[in-house]
Amino acid sequence: MRVRTHVNPFTYIERMEKIAYEKIFPDNKFLDFEIGFGRGVFAKNYAKFNPDRNLIAIEIRKPVVKYVKEELKDAGLKNLYLLHGKAEICLEDTLADASLDRVFLFHPDPWLKLRHHKRRVLQHNFLDLIFRKLKAGGRLYLSTDVENLWQNMSKTIKIHGEFMKVEDQEFWQEQYITYWHEYSKRSERPLFYAVFKKQS
Ligand SMILES: C[S@@+](CC[C@H](N)C(=O)[O-])C[C@H]1O[C@@H](n2cnc3c(N)ncnc32)[C@H](O)[C@@H]1O
Repeated sequence: MRVRTHVNPFTYIERMEKIAYEKIFPDNKFLDFEIGFGRGVFAKNYAKFNPDRNLIAIEIRKPVVKYVKEELKDAGLKNLYLLHGKAEICLEDTLADASLDRVFLFHPDPWLKLRHHKRRVLQHNFLDLIFRKLKAGGRLYLSTDVENLWQNMSKTIKIHGEFMKVEDQEFWQEQYITYWHEYSKRSERPLFYAVFKKQS
């Protein structure tokens, strides 16, 4: 499958209808959210590995969403809900405040040119939105293989000031499987990762 690698999130403004998540996930399990699921490798494995949790995963590139939905249609993962759209809008329009247990942001587009840094997804306002949607004690999982992006995201979190770094080695060792991470390992690229807890 060939698809454009980047969608400029600034040009994507489509608002979203309310979603009856309580009907999609009638069981009262933990609720997690993945931003930019790409090929859906993490979403698929995480949902399989964690039948006690529900995962909403969103991706901005429509053809990719169609492809992954097709791939997973017979997987029987009732605890996974795939969405097309922009994560920022989805969080704002469809999820109540303090509703999420975990938010995952793995290998966000690095927008390497300096003049494009403002397109990087983890800006202060988006981080603040994530903060609002997490429950007290909820966690944000972050990774990238781009050092400059890692420094930038770390600075944004530090300036925000309401997240505390915590450990979850079991997660990184046993559950952290993403398409981009597999590629990055094969290319012997570095990995920067951390978990941040919402302080209440
Ligand atoms: C480099 S890929 C990484 C995909 C996947 N997380 C992985 O680790 O394999 C980044 C993905 O985030 C998606 N994306 C970028 N901005 C987004 C946004 N605001 N909302 C939803 N998805 C977004 C991109 O389309 C792309 O598929």
